[in-house]
Amino acid sequence: MGGLLLVGGARPNFMKMAPIIRSCDKHGLEYKIIHTGQHYDYNMSEVFFKELGIPKPDYNLEVGSGTYVYQITTIMRRFEYVLQKYFPDIVVVVGDVNSTVACALVVSRADAIKLAHVEAGSRVFDKNMPEETNRIITDVVSDLLFVIENDHKLNLMNEGVDINRIHVVGDTMADNLLYMKSKISATSGNTDVMLTIHRQENTDNKLRLKNMLSAVEKLSKNVSIVFPIHPRTAVAIDKFGFGSYLKNVRCLEPLGYKEFIRKLIGVSVVITDSGGLPIEAAILGKPCVILNNKIGRRTLIECGNAVLVNDNVDLIISKTTDILKYGMPITSDMWRVGMDGKASERIVKTIIENL
Ligand code: UD1
Repeated sequence: MGGLLLVGGARPNFMKMAPIIRSCDKHGLEYKIIHTGQHYDYNMSEVFFKELGIPKPDYNLEVGSGTYVYQITTIMRRFEYVLQKYFPDIVVVVGDVNSTVACALVVSRADAIKLAHVEAGSRVFDKNMPEETNRIITDVVSDLLFVIENDHKLNLMNEGVDINRIHVVGDTMADNLLYMKSKISATSGNTDVMLTIHRQENTDNKLRLKNMLSAVEKLSKNVSIVFPIHPRTAVAIDKFGFGSYLKNVRCLEPLGYKEFIRKLIGVSVVITDSGGLPIEAAILGKPCVILNNKIGRRTLIECGNAVLVNDNVDLIISKTTDILKYGMPITSDMWRVGMDGKASERIVKTIIENL
């Protein structure tokens, strides 16, 4: 076949793939889409393909749920077959999920096929987070490293990566949101807070999840909170018996992209442990209270778009309440670097130059 193979598998991949596909179409670059099937529920996957205009995948590896080792090894075995079937010039992987690293490892052994990583160089400097090791390994084996901002380029240079492999292109999540924003109307009836929790280190740690949800319970006595719940988090809340913390919270199934952004436009503050949501929140002018002690996009903290509270109950409550009362002043516009909606254009042009 030749051309490009674009791989995605989990919810946060799909919003990064959509603008790359639009740019491939614009430049006449031939591509095939591979879905690993890591996320498979309608509202974790198919709804995003429909709403973001991503063509139906050419091949689905149907890996489904399982342990880290099961997902990685199964994707690797099945993706090896796909590489032999299509034999592309280049494979593009996005983000930091298990699907990303599994496919990257397979390509690394195929000498004639190049590998590009979109969102390379993002680091939180905590190797206990599965996403962090996924990023590091993917970056080590990639030929083209597409980074969002200079901070991430520096991370790679500090790891000894050859500077010629690094391309600062901006943020594909921003490309997607800026493109979709005009197609989405705001929700009527405002809610104060949007809450999302899904990271394994939060959902699988009973004490951390308890701290977060007990802060949410206290907040929910005075502020309205909407909580679209990731499947993993729903299982954890059930297992630990934490449902009672949420009796005043509007709990929802995971939302499709348009509905999620519509709700996001309507809230005043976001409380989240997500890596991608703070970027979308910043673009929409929503301050973020972050349930971690670090974040890949440090610029958002430095510019005042977001604040780190980890699982500290008092801080979660006081920061959220303060922001609702007084707002959160942005101290610098540096966070806008790479948010011009043209990252995918730069990526596709660079790929064409390197083929
Ligand atoms: C993955 C990514 C994470 C990303 C997140 C967004 C890794 C290591 N992590 O985490 O970086 O921010 O996606 O969602 O890849 N499940 C369903 N239906 C689905 C998908 C998952 O019920 O459609 C359940 C399964 O029981 C599964 C659990 O959710 O065991 C976790 O899914 P998994 O694919 O392991 O990773 P995420 O936690 O979603």
